[in-house]
Amino acid sequence: MRFEIKDRDGLARIGVLETRHGKVETPALLPVINPNKVLIEPKEMKKLFKIDILITNSYIIYKNKRLKEFALSKGVHKLLDFDGSIMTDSGTFQSYVYGDIDVDPIEIVEFQRDIGSDIGTILDLFTNPEESYDETKRKINETVRRARISSKVKGEMLLACPVQGGTYEDLRAACAKKMSEIECDVHPIGGVVPLMENQRYDDLAKVIISSKRYLPLSRVVHLFGAGHPLVFPLAVILGVDLVDSASYAKYARDDRLIFPWGTEKLEDLEEIPCNCPVCTSTDIKELKEMDKVEREKKIALHNLYICFSEMKRIKVAIKEGSLWELVEEKSSLNPMMFDALRVLEREDVKEWLEKFESISKKSALFYVNPHTLHRPIIYRYQKRLFSVYRPREKEVVLKEEVEKPYSRYYREEWEKSKIDIIVKTPFGPIPLPLDEMYPIAQSVFPKNIDEESKILSEKLIKEFLEKFELKETKERRKGKRDLDLDLDLDRVRYIIDMQFGKGVSDILLDGEVKIVKSKSTGKIRNVYLNGKHILSMRAQDGLFTLKVDGGRILHTYYASPRFRVVVENNVSDYIKNGRNVFSKFVVDCDSNLRPFDECLIVSEDDDFLGVGRCLLNRDEMLSFNYGIAVKTREGVKDGRNN
Ligand code: GUN
Ligand code: ZN
Repeated sequence: MRFEIKDRDGLARIGVLETRHGKVETPALLPVINPNKVLIEPKEMKKLFKIDILITNSYIIYKNKRLKEFALSKGVHKLLDFDGSIMTDSGTFQSYVYGDIDVDPIEIVEFQRDIGSDIGTILDLFTNPEESYDETKRKINETVRRARISSKVKGEMLLACPVQGGTYEDLRAACAKKMSEIECDVHPIGGVVPLMENQRYDDLAKVIISSKRYLPLSRVVHLFGAGHPLVFPLAVILGVDLVDSASYAKYARDDRLIFPWGTEKLEDLEEIPCNCPVCTSTDIKELKEMDKVEREKKIALHNLYICFSEMKRIKVAIKEGSLWELVEEKSSLNPMMFDALRVLEREDVKEWLEKFESISKKSALFYVNPHTLHRPIIYRYQKRLFSVYRPREKEVVLKEEVEKPYSRYYREEWEKSKIDIIVKTPFGPIPLPLDEMYPIAQSVFPKNIDEESKILSEKLIKEFLEKFELKETKERRKGKRDLDLDLDLDRVRYIIDMQFGKGVSDILLDGEVKIVKSKSTGKIRNVYLNGKHILSMRAQDGLFTLKVDGGRILHTYYASPRFRVVVENNVSDYIKNGRNVFSKFVVDCDSNLRPFDECLIVSEDDDFLGVGRCLLNRDEMLSFNYGIAVKTREGVKDGRNN
């Protein structure tokens, strides 16, 4: 299977999956087509919503003599009159709804293969959240057994092997681990429809997390029956690539309209708060009075407009790096979604999410609600500060927040004293020299944050003072101006340590240091050591990019694998000449590197080849066979500046 990441925001990814019927851009919403009752033609959906993939049920086709014969002779694409990618499900859900079904688990996989399905699904056993631990365990074992034998008969078809396990996190994890070892392509997370129906979004979050965490990152993850667009952002931020939905049709049957914030019954509405082509061309009175069949189609179309437009918002948010804002926004719209975000505040979950979080983003960080302070990027800032900070004195001056960047107000005071200035902010303590670093300067908070967040940031400031045994002082120590105290130099020091590790600034600045600032903005641009250009600072995020000469110093200082991406020896020359690193050639990587971190590129013999910017973390680099792992900034033979 060819699946490649093009863009990302944490675990959320814009990917391209190739099937025999073309490319599918993820995250994707797969509308469910009932082959027995086609409400809206796939062709029409393609025209209106540019869908490149849909999902249908092979069991329904298999059970109907006419559909079965047609599909076997002409194929499922002809049956549905759709030339894009088709995923098929297997009948598991029917067995959950109607009880036992009579089809052999292997036969249904072979059938999907024979009708030309692009992605077929094994006949997994649906694990209802109400079931006992032992029954759930039995079901996952049988599901895994079926996955194993199904993968032998799948032929050219891509195979989906669901993760089951009810709401037992350990069973989800165990199932995901076993599925990872089986040769297949897509991992749906199954058994979640009852959670969705009862809006148990906190359990849903637990289920997604405990499954996704143990699945190979290069495989596509699907959420079976995701239903409502309210849950799409949560699913996507937890690494779900595909969602399917029959809700657009199911709700339409009951005269229910989907909206970004929830669902409304037609009879309860006096006006439809929507401007989709259906709602602008149909009067609500007209809609209420029209023939049921016609109305059902109209509502289904409206529902699809909403669902696809929500998916578009998600894609835009991933590209901007603002998906957390969308997720938190949904949590303000629905109390059960609010509870779901509490699950993401668990220490172990934050630690996991942080591994996938980019170092910086295109857009500023916007505060939404009390969940905001738990975002992985803030968690990282706090962790790093606590691990790299080196107090210069036993006292600090604590300052209230002012307009950003804080140094505009506090610089002079800072430069006249050895005592550090720490600004009290929602992020917690911010030493003045860090005030321009992402996401600090690039964040927007209201004048008054909520009480919970306030308590959290106060607690952090207290912990900071305790950890570094600092005493608060109101008065700066008077005395001679210390010539060492230059805020620009300290900015360089602090940011180097935040980016490259505690004390690394002592190494990178060991010699004659020259800081070049922009004439127009006054911001730091380049750092030279003994006449060599070692670092550049990006104006947008206040973070350093590594030059080859800076990389050389880090390479000597840190032993392997620290800061390294190790590539196969046979691609060494390409990298030296400035070519990008493809995942396929990555042999190893420092597990501390994060997406968009600066890195050293080395050969298997630890020859230094160049410097670059990681697009993936270690687990992703080692899992993927396609796509770019590191954008090489400069190879040792390159000499270009890009
Ligand atoms: N559709 C909704 N839930 C499920 C599930 O758990 N398994 C399968 N195969 N299909 C589903
Ligand atoms: Zn509408």
